[in-house]
Amino acid sequence: MNISDSIGPTLIGKHIVLGVTGSIAAYKAVALLRTLIREGAVVQVVMTQSATKFVTPLTFEVLSGHPVSLDIFEARQAMTHVSWPAQADAIVIAPATANCLAKAAMGMGDDLLSTMLLTSQCPLVVAPAMDGGMWTHPSVQEHVKTLCARGTVVVNPEIGPLASGQIGQGRLAEESRILAALHAALAPQRDWQGHRVLVSAGPTQEPIDPVRFISNRSSGKMGYAVAEAAQARGAQVVLVTGPTALPIPRGVEVVSVSTAEDMLKALSMRLAWSTTVIMAAAVADFRPTHPAAQKIKKQGHTGQTLDLEQTTDILASLSAQRTTQLMVGFAAETSDLTAHAQAKLTAKGLDLIVANDVTIEGAGFGSDQNAATLIDRQGGMTELPLMPKRALADAILNRAHELFCSRQSSQSPSPVLGGR
Ligand code: PMT
Repeated sequence: MNISDSIGPTLIGKHIVLGVTGSIAAYKAVALLRTLIREGAVVQVVMTQSATKFVTPLTFEVLSGHPVSLDIFEARQAMTHVSWPAQADAIVIAPATANCLAKAAMGMGDDLLSTMLLTSQCPLVVAPAMDGGMWTHPSVQEHVKTLCARGTVVVNPEIGPLASGQIGQGRLAEESRILAALHAALAPQRDWQGHRVLVSAGPTQEPIDPVRFISNRSSGKMGYAVAEAAQARGAQVVLVTGPTALPIPRGVEVVSVSTAEDMLKALSMRLAWSTTVIMAAAVADFRPTHPAAQKIKKQGHTGQTLDLEQTTDILASLSAQRTTQLMVGFAAETSDLTAHAQAKLTAKGLDLIVANDVTIEGAGFGSDQNAATLIDRQGGMTELPLMPKRALADAILNRAHELFCSRQSSQSPSPVLGGR
């Protein structure tokens, strides 16, 4: 069933840049262009030089009603590489060759289309088409992974007869799948729909007596940002939080706790419900062994010492009990960031750790921004520069989602071979 047949024009007022690259499947972009226009979109077509070997620019010009841009230096409108992406609601590249994926992943800008990708801020949907042997090549898969990690929607090619005469995965995806991906990209991101995310945030307070406690400088901003982002992306979220001054995030169930022991209980009883645990809280590692029942008087207590005992390592305890949950921890470090974080990842049995150097100015405790290195249990590392905590939260969710996807794909057999 064709989406446009079933629900009528749904892209009214949307500006789409349609990139066409040099694959035999370029002729299918003509039909895609017609459908986009039928759905109400204003479409501007950018072709690579190789694409023009398969279909003439005139075909796209006539059908789109707009000049087709081919060359960054010969573009009929000045600064097309900046102005078109700036106006676009989305860029769709169909078909996308292996060369196009590589340039997009590596940030190369040696033609108009690749340069547009570097200037654009809008969602990008790519529909690769190539021979099956090329699609399964490790470097192509690496580029696909990189693009996915950055939020590009990749519409995987389909299995069937290819131009080479072989049967394999490489055929351009059916138009309905490309359109569905475009619709999803234009709608608010809902990639965490169906997930149940348990997030912890803030400090814990360990009583010394009824009026004093041991705590730390966590404001809760990082964990709240994670909870907000997961909720916005469709997840059901429970936020277990130590004392903070932050407003309750919309649509998030909040459980307020005070001590590490309370936090352990609140998280443990919700572990079975969750599909993902993200532990951003700064849990006190020690608590007074014998908190006083009454306020400790200063008279007669010069040189007072405090006996401390270790709190339970909540994350390690949850990891030990988990079934299929994805476990994400944080590591707050002041030296040897990655070595210490990697040791925590292993010791606590995590899938992913967010290593943040809390000595960086403007990052870590209390600030609105943070910088981190994401380390997964396979040793994969992604360095993320200083950015708003909400943007970092989205980057963490992107990586965690990718880990879910790779778990699923490793459970299903991977198809082989080459694209028509
Ligand atoms: O709250 P903000 O002001 O926004 O600051 C954000 C932050 C710096 C607190 C956050 O980015 C962060 O790094 N959180 C983790 C802080 C921490 O306790 O790190 P850690 O390296 O000591 O612990 C490693 C992991 O084990 C953490 O996920 C921690 O939640 C967990 N842990 C630690 C001790 C303990 N007893 N139980 C635990 O589960």
